Amino acid sequence: MNKQFANDVKEGLSKTPKSLSSKYFYDEKGSALFSKIMKLPEYYLTDAEFEIFQKKAPEIIKLLGITSQKSFDLIELGAGDGYKTIELLKALDTLNFQYKYCPIDISAKALHQIEENIHQQIPNKKIDPKLGDYFHILHELKSSPLPKIVLFLGSNIGNMENVEANAFLSHLSENLSKDDKIILGADLKKSKDIVLPAYNDSQGLTSAFNLNLLSRINTELDADFNTELFVHTPMYDEQEGVAKSAIKSTVNQEVEIKVLDMKVAFKKEEQIHTEISRKYDDISIQNICLDTGLKIVGKITDSKNYFADYIIEKQ
Ligand code: AVJ
Repeated sequence: MNKQFANDVKEGLSKTPKSLSSKYFYDEKGSALFSKIMKLPEYYLTDAEFEIFQKKAPEIIKLLGITSQKSFDLIELGAGDGYKTIELLKALDTLNFQYKYCPIDISAKALHQIEENIHQQIPNKKIDPKLGDYFHILHELKSSPLPKIVLFLGSNIGNMENVEANAFLSHLSENLSKDDKIILGADLKKSKDIVLPAYNDSQGLTSAFNLNLLSRINTELDADFNTELFVHTPMYDEQEGVAKSAIKSTVNQEVEIKVLDMKVAFKKEEQIHTEISRKYDDISIQNICLDTGLKIVGKITDSKNYFADYIIEKQ
């Protein structure tokens, strides 16, 4: 049993309003659902960032200020299946760059997937996958004398509150040396008509993804959530640029979580907050970089201006 999960669930369901962390979405079933979400027509984020890597890799490479004369480490945090990154690798290989690609993920399955995808698309490319926690591994990699380029794509940063994102970037910065770069994928602020469907797709995959958290608690903590008595509740605050997801109880009910030795009461309409997916503009990206020793040196967007990859440099 995952102790951290048990503690966090206990704490999150004991407070008002109730909340559960989005980091717990990604058990095996949740990860499979997220892969499907990325392929949905409504989930524009993946297509937009893929377009950036597919069509604008040369521009990215230029902004990175690298030359084929000097080798570097290309490190990806939470690499997933590597679908977007492979486009960058192909462009780097075409231009004869020397580098070591090091995807980091907490899922062994994701790392196998990425190895297989790279093997198929760039047959001779050797990679150095690392299983584990980002910062633990970044710290290990710090001793490498080579310049580093760190990828943090997919607007994963958006799941953090701004203070957390700022702390995350500070921590990342501490593990880098002067002139090292970060490629930070960020979903841009835009109209509700575009954002909301991305978190409320017509096939109900996002709903299943969100409600899977309750199933995970049922399995791992021996609880009796009836997922049919809860609904996925997406919201988007256009002013603030934040998409929020919650799980709403449709009735007054009580749920037992045996492993935690607790009973949780829900009022009809009561919500459990599960995720924020923050959207950005240049100013909000600058703000999360404040006092981190990091500076924005470039920005590349897709043709619709939905998504940006910011090139950030350690000072
Ligand atoms: C993987 C964090 C970028 O917030 O858009 C997708 C996760 N949540 N649909 C996002 C997610 C609901 C996704 N990130």
